[in-house]
Amino acid sequence: MIVEWFRHLFIPCRPEVRDLGYLRELLAIEGRAARCRPHWRSHLENCRSLILEAASACPNKGKVLVLGSGLLLDIPLAELSASFGQVVLTDIFHLPPVRRALKIHPNVRAVDADVTGTVAEVHRLTRTRDRCPLPRVAPDLFLDEGFDLVVSANILSQLPVLLLQRLDQRLALEEEEMEAFARGLLEEHLAWLGRFPGQVCLITDLKWQSVTLGQTLEDEDALFGVTVPATGRTWYWNIAPSPEYSADYDRRNLVLGVKDLRAGE
Ligand SMILES: C[S@@+](CC[C@H](N)C(=O)[O-])C[C@H]1O[C@@H](n2cnc3c(N)ncnc32)[C@H](O)[C@@H]1O
Repeated sequence: MIVEWFRHLFIPCRPEVRDLGYLRELLAIEGRAARCRPHWRSHLENCRSLILEAASACPNKGKVLVLGSGLLLDIPLAELSASFGQVVLTDIFHLPPVRRALKIHPNVRAVDADVTGTVAEVHRLTRTRDRCPLPRVAPDLFLDEGFDLVVSANILSQLPVLLLQRLDQRLALEEEEMEAFARGLLEEHLAWLGRFPGQVCLITDLKWQSVTLGQTLEDEDALFGVTVPATGRTWYWNIAPSPEYSADYDRRNLVLGVKDLRAGE
């Protein structure tokens, strides 16, 4: 905990990445992944093998883009680097150990960017406590860079989480306005994915559940009512087995993996 706190204080990053909790969250995921390694294994293997299937179905292997690369836990980086000419990883922030690990792959580039186009504005609104309408942005990053494969890697459901937390702390907004903002982020991400000319692979939480002794205590829609236009395959990610989050129940996510979003499967 103390080490995590020091790292949070001293890792250099953009103000919104620290203030809105993105850096804290990346450090927390790093810790949880280490503590819950055996419980996360099947989820991480499912993600990696789906991404490799998507890659092998891709006729051209010039460039691949990964959205939500984070700590690279669910990304088969060595294989992507070996089979594609260029690999571009995007996350709001890449931790220094992740950047160091990339040095052995000369064709891999990490780009720190907000894929929603709203984070800086939400940061500004919540600092000035400005009651302007919440932003809705159609992202256009990377669209004209000729990617043969785009992988949205466990990022979709995460896009609203920290923004909503901050908005809730700082601005007394109506629940409907917050929910419409969250839905807008998800709809715009899906619309953006649909505008890439190459193949798109999507991995996302569908549900966040609390379970104990085979009983579901809570079953929350991770996508705010937004539906993904695809079937794909599903599995559970045992993200926080007891007592990680609670002594009384486990937290698990129902995850959807879609190899080819345009084909819907
Ligand atoms: C569940 S993690 C994904 C895990 C990651 N694929 C891995 O293997 O470590 C969600 C990721 O989304 C990133 N993220 C959340 N909001 C973002 C945004 N607006 N722009 C870019 N990345 C964002 C987080 O920083 C985090 O790394």
